[in-house]
Amino acid sequence: MAYDRDLSFVYRNPTKLVFGENSAKDVGIEVGELGCSKAFLVTDPGLVETGLPEIIVKALGNKYAGTFDQCIQDCGLHIINEAAEVAKAAGADCLVSLGGGSTIDTAKGMAILIKEGGRIEDYAGLQMLTRPQTPHIAIPTTAGTGSEVTYAFVVKDWEKNQKLIFADTFVIPNIGILDPTLTEGLPPGLTATTGMDAMTHAVEAIHALQAMPMSDAMAMHAIRLIMEYLPTCVENGTDLFARGQQQIAATMAGIAFGNAQIGMVHAMAHSVGGLFKVPHGLGNSILLPHVMLYNMDECADRYAMVADAMGLDTKGMSDLEASEAAANAIWDLTRKMGVPQKLSEVGVPEDGLDAAADLALSDGSIVYNPKLIYETDQILEVYKKAY
Ligand SMILES: NC(=O)c1ccc[n+]([C@@H]2O[C@H](COP(=O)([O-])OP(=O)(O)OC[C@H]3O[C@@H](n4cnc5c(N)ncnc54)[C@H](O)[C@@H]3O)[C@@H](O)[C@H]2O)c1
Ligand SMILES: [Fe+2]
Repeated sequence: MAYDRDLSFVYRNPTKLVFGENSAKDVGIEVGELGCSKAFLVTDPGLVETGLPEIIVKALGNKYAGTFDQCIQDCGLHIINEAAEVAKAAGADCLVSLGGGSTIDTAKGMAILIKEGGRIEDYAGLQMLTRPQTPHIAIPTTAGTGSEVTYAFVVKDWEKNQKLIFADTFVIPNIGILDPTLTEGLPPGLTATTGMDAMTHAVEAIHALQAMPMSDAMAMHAIRLIMEYLPTCVENGTDLFARGQQQIAATMAGIAFGNAQIGMVHAMAHSVGGLFKVPHGLGNSILLPHVMLYNMDECADRYAMVADAMGLDTKGMSDLEASEAAANAIWDLTRKMGVPQKLSEVGVPEDGLDAAADLALSDGSIVYNPKLIYETDQILEVYKKAY
């Protein structure tokens, strides 16, 4: 649990959070609080099928300005460029995103283009903006990404099959509405894998090089909640108390990693996501325990904290033994929820691992990994173990 003597950090948590069953019905009030009157809804075709966007349209009343409902998994540069044009034509002065991370991330990109103009590819990278962007209310319908509170968004370049990371504090959503009723219909498989994205955020926030007391506290509590409530959400999706606790966990894990950063798990998951369409949470879920075992000689004290938050009995164990117990507990959890545990089961070809390792080495997340990663062979070693 020790921090370096020269500990220094910046901790940011600017998003107003509104939590509660049916809280999404207050979205119109929140739009007013932002000083806006023309709210543009951003969502995806899967959500349209659930009927949830209608609840938001109704709640917005005369503040509703239009909808873009063609968001896609992992987003896309072309999607953001197109969606921003539609929102501008509708005269939108704020955005309301309703969906998973793919939709919230699309709205983050749109927020920039509505304010600054141009094309989204012009803004890839770190802190490219100089002023606040279009106000954005994020309403997550998965409980995993934490995108409602983070400064990052991830967009796939479908021509290069590569995921680009955009990171800017000016795209942190102004308001996040956490309404458990919106995740009630999320199928068990998606509940489990998106929930494991949140677990990965929490564990990576704890091992990341920028970890600090505030992010540790957020991550530790997120792990406690996920261990206790995620299996219930998978078994009984209508348990709204469990759904709500998992939503809170995902948001807390988002605040944690948004400050502490992430690491090798996300770098590797982004690559197999970009190249082989492995869904984000699923890739993280498979890779997380392997990366923990690979890193543990560098940060066993940190994984011992993870074991503690998981509620494992580590009495008499060394930190290394507790780290191993924590990695095993991840496998126990995913086995219990029926989540695949090998890359070979999720459409990754064995001869694609070299290319994935090459790509992961250039991913922005890798520099925050506790063990220095400087060559592709290190990454390849972990991919092979997870295959
Ligand atoms: N910005 C960040 O901080 C951050 C963090 C982690 C992940 N991400 C990104 O988020 C994306 C993944 O997001 P995700 O895991 O939330 O999934 P997603 O947004 O890709 O959605 C997956 C599927 O779930 C469906 N769905 C969503 N909510 C539903 C509901 N309540 N009922 C029924 N179906 C529902 C959607 O229609 C979609 O088909 C990736 O692109 C990833 O890179 C971003
Ligand atoms: Fe993630």
